[in-house]
Amino acid sequence: MAHSSDMIAADIEGYLKSHESKGLLRFITCGSVDDGKSTLIGRLLFESKLLFEDQLASIEADSKKYGTQGGDMDFALLVDGLAAEREQGITIDVAYRFFSTDKRKFIVADTPGHEQYTRNMVTGASNADAAILMVDARHGIMTQTRRHSFLMSLMGMRRVIVAINKMDLVDYSKARFDEIVEEYREFAKQLGLENITFIPMSALKGDNVIEHSAKMPWYHGTTLMGYLETVEVDDERLQRNPFRMAVQWVNRPNLDFRGFTGMISSGVITPGDEIRVQPSGSTSKVSRIYTYDGDLEQAVAGQSVTLLMEDEIDISRGDIISGVDSPAQTADQFETSLVWMHDEPLLPGRPYLMKLGTQTVSATVTDIKYQVNVNTLEHTASKQLDLNAIGVCTLSLNKAVAFDPYKENQDTGGFILIDRMTNNTVGAGMLNFALRRSQNIHMQHVDIGKPQRAEAKVQKPAVLWFTGLSGAGKSTIANLVEQKLYAQGQHTYLLDGDNVRHGLNRDLGFTDADRVENIRRVSEVAKLMVDAGLIVLTAFISPFRSERRMARDLLDEGEFIEIFVDTPLDVAEERDPKGLYKKARRGELQNFTGIDSAYEAPESAEIHLHTAKMQPEDAADAVIKALRERGLIN
Ligand code: ADX
Repeated sequence: MAHSSDMIAADIEGYLKSHESKGLLRFITCGSVDDGKSTLIGRLLFESKLLFEDQLASIEADSKKYGTQGGDMDFALLVDGLAAEREQGITIDVAYRFFSTDKRKFIVADTPGHEQYTRNMVTGASNADAAILMVDARHGIMTQTRRHSFLMSLMGMRRVIVAINKMDLVDYSKARFDEIVEEYREFAKQLGLENITFIPMSALKGDNVIEHSAKMPWYHGTTLMGYLETVEVDDERLQRNPFRMAVQWVNRPNLDFRGFTGMISSGVITPGDEIRVQPSGSTSKVSRIYTYDGDLEQAVAGQSVTLLMEDEIDISRGDIISGVDSPAQTADQFETSLVWMHDEPLLPGRPYLMKLGTQTVSATVTDIKYQVNVNTLEHTASKQLDLNAIGVCTLSLNKAVAFDPYKENQDTGGFILIDRMTNNTVGAGMLNFALRRSQNIHMQHVDIGKPQRAEAKVQKPAVLWFTGLSGAGKSTIANLVEQKLYAQGQHTYLLDGDNVRHGLNRDLGFTDADRVENIRRVSEVAKLMVDAGLIVLTAFISPFRSERRMARDLLDEGEFIEIFVDTPLDVAEERDPKGLYKKARRGELQNFTGIDSAYEAPESAEIHLHTAKMQPEDAADAVIKALRERGLIN
């Protein structure tokens, strides 16, 4: 039988199956450290009689050892399982717990109160039907309360229960309760939070948790459990929204069967319904709703099904199937709210992978409009987002996706960002709206293209991307290579770091964010020049793998030749042609590559030059030879 302890994913399904006939409510608890979240969860688990005897015995023993509640049983000890948490007195990470009553089953995400854990709370809140915000009646609305309320409004939480706890410590005072309610209502208005329920409570003593409290006869509202057992769950609401299903896979066991499998995120579908597939826009009619247990006459939000269509239309993984009358939108540029979840900051201009439902595309933050101070709700200008920061950003994708604004549909409007090098999840966000320009600017068709321009120049356009430390010899070697190419009649152009930084990129310095932007602009310029039919040589430190990868991805296969000018730091420092290493060592120059700013060496450059053992002239010859071998030049 399921009980209070944490379960792993595999257990969850079994648990849900065994209680299938009952509705499921997902909720989160949040609030300041010490507001009594853990005690409340312990109380709910205890009262729902799903604890095992041996666990009870161990709480009693622990209460004597660690307990802070005098004679009362300390339910917090049941929940705060980790020793580290006990020592710090705070809860870290999200713990999911399961319990059920006669009426419903519940999943509660217990999220930490400590201020560094924005990301945990956001994780816990995604998917929740309701949030319980704990407030200590003695302290009232605190910074944490405001922070968590802001996050809940950001996440589109539809139901908030403000549990005004520890009423026993304020003599069950109605006046105190009213005062806090008043203050919170005022604040919540600014956030646009609606649907707030206030409950005066003592989680420790059990007042208004399950049973109405005799100590607060002035309160006539619901108990917490009464609320949780009867509030409408999202599944019911979602069925009334327009039909959406993200295609997880195309199921084609033989030529006679072609089905599209996914989970319905909102709405209802029946055979005969007209649908639209996005982003392509083609339409058809559903002919069958297939499941392993047989065909269905109707399927609703939350169900996983395979849809068969009347027509042979093109549908692939990642597409969204919508009801024909109220389809999703499509766009490739958005305003988004972004929560950054990684130690390495978000850098505008750097491409990340974006996962939106079952669609995966490449996404770049083009602008951080502002960062939100979660404590004061103030907006501040910002060049990057650090761990736990929240910003409103414009996001640009490499191709259009189907979506709904997050406010309308959390599945088709909520996304995560993934680092392309490490595969870590680094951010989570919500699509606020599509930028108008993304729908109004179309690629102009031109009749003279890259092939014609290349042919006129009798050459294969390409980018020779030199990368390496300052003083490695990039510019010197690139310069020699260009002379050799010119001598044999090639049309070339050399983009050099120091030169470009005097013109196009004169507004940029040497922070990570500025280097990313430097390389982004240079990549785009190089791409245009390749399109013009040129052989482009670039000489930039270009210290980050991400951005070199971005430059590569802008071009066609075989057009990007990465040339690693590999000079050990001590050799480059010894040469120090501009005296910059000495300056950096004296501390007069910040963020110097190799000294206090990173250089990520290429892992598989097309050409690798060990310049410590080579004269520039020989290095240039080696490049020309390698280009001939690749068939790029004669
Ligand atoms: S990159 O990192 O953004 O690719 P880029 O190649 O454009 O750098 O510019 C590097 C050149 O700027 C160096 O060769 C050096 O002459 C100069 N420079 C000035 N300050 C720095 C610094 N802090 N780090 C590296 N190079 C610097």
